[in-house]
Amino acid sequence: MEFSIKQGSPEKLKGGCVVVGVFEGGKLSTAAQVIDKAAKHALSDLIARGDMSGKSSSTLLLHKLPGVAAERVLLVGLGKASELNSKTSVEILRATFAALDATATKDAVLYIADEGIGNDAAASTHRQALDSGQAWAIRQAVFAAAEQAFRADGLKSKPSTAPVLKHVTFATREKPAAALRSVLDQAAATARGMELAKTLGNLPGNVCTPTYLATKARALGKAHKSIKTTVLEEKDMRKLGMGSFLSVTRGSEQPAKLITLEYHGGDKKQKPIVLVGKGITFDSGGISLKPGAEMDEMKYDMCGAASVLGTLQAIAEMGLKLNVVGVIPSCENLPSGHATKPGDIVTSMSGQTIEILNTDAEGRLILCDALTYSAKFNPDTVIDIATLTGACVIALGHVASGLFSNEDKLARELLAAGEQTHDRAWQLPLWDDYQPLLDSNFADMQNIGGRAGGTITAACFLSRFTKDYRWAHLDIAGTAWKSGKEKGATGRPVPLLVQYLINRTEKK
Ligand code: BES
Ligand code: MN
Ligand code: ZN
Repeated sequence: MEFSIKQGSPEKLKGGCVVVGVFEGGKLSTAAQVIDKAAKHALSDLIARGDMSGKSSSTLLLHKLPGVAAERVLLVGLGKASELNSKTSVEILRATFAALDATATKDAVLYIADEGIGNDAAASTHRQALDSGQAWAIRQAVFAAAEQAFRADGLKSKPSTAPVLKHVTFATREKPAAALRSVLDQAAATARGMELAKTLGNLPGNVCTPTYLATKARALGKAHKSIKTTVLEEKDMRKLGMGSFLSVTRGSEQPAKLITLEYHGGDKKQKPIVLVGKGITFDSGGISLKPGAEMDEMKYDMCGAASVLGTLQAIAEMGLKLNVVGVIPSCENLPSGHATKPGDIVTSMSGQTIEILNTDAEGRLILCDALTYSAKFNPDTVIDIATLTGACVIALGHVASGLFSNEDKLARELLAAGEQTHDRAWQLPLWDDYQPLLDSNFADMQNIGGRAGGTITAACFLSRFTKDYRWAHLDIAGTAWKSGKEKGATGRPVPLLVQYLINRTEKK
């Protein structure tokens, strides 16, 4: 899908469909007023007849209005102006692209950025300082358009037809600011990164193995000169002393991989930001086997890894002036005669020993070695992204990712990037008071802390391996995919990560 911005009057722009807003009670948005005038009050008439109430997210498609150059006009209900906020704005944009998808139009011109979509009085001052409601609206419109066009049927024998809508133009009555154009280009690259993350996430475990992820990472290195991909094999990891990571892959026939992607966009001397993504391509729980119901969803246990690949693709496309390293520890977690058993004690790369009381708490076991390994890049900041705990889903549901950090400024920057992209996170505590829950009688620590505060104790476990650098952890167990009828990867938190990286370049 292509996106552009241009200035123009709504009745004059030629094309398949022009989209304008109507407020609840029938008040026309400015662009709608212009159309109404050109079309001899066709809009006021149908509103007077009661065919369009302006209720939030309602739509009405009109054909061949006299005096209007576009073939169709789509009216979109904006609700009450005073009730527009992040949630209703996203819903309106989704309804818009669903309505466009139901037509045969190949292109659409949207007059939405001026009408208050993206305003949110409840947004943090941090977000409000970073950008305008207009920038927010354009980002969300691009994400909604890409989401509507996304197909997950690559493995069906008869994939559905390709989406028809090919070109989306954001029209403004005033000359669009140059900054808005770069927001648009960044959003489009972010959407493509999300698409990569979704596609990888949805692939079944028998296709998307650690070897498959390594192949995809190498392909990214081929496609972008700025990315260098390296893949370490199990024998390399053994030499590095990654006893914790290797303990997880023992039950699997698939070889584990430690994938690194080095993106060079900044000064040679600039310290990189390292993104570490959990890449368990299937999590059965191992010997601590999970219950059968919905176990298929554990193919999504590599969504952290997928978000790292999607983010790197997006920033390489943008040519972001920053150095970023992606580190992806990847393996399967399966039971077998070789598998690690509850009670086994392993030595991590850091030298700390771990008593594995539950083999299903495997994410932290692969991440701790990847985090220790990350220090070799002399990082400015390390952020890990992981579908780490079911407890995070209990705490935050499917709305916010869990956020932890050993530096409050970093936490605030990530929270703001999440608000800017509507890919939000919520901070949870990393207080030392939780650490004793990880005490073991036989090793330096155990790999579980009990049911209470399960998300926090998982983060506390990781914090024992990240003392040497600024670090944040995102638990995306509730946000990386949807279950039930809408089952599918979401592409989160690619938007949050990309926005954080963009913000980092703009500050320096
Ligand atoms: N990948 C899971 C976490 C998960 C579970 C994400 C369900 C989304 C939905 C992780 O490896 C895991 O199994 N965690 C255990 C930890 C427990 C044994 C301490 C969990 O959350 O149950
Ligand atoms: Mn597990
Ligand atoms: Zn897992």
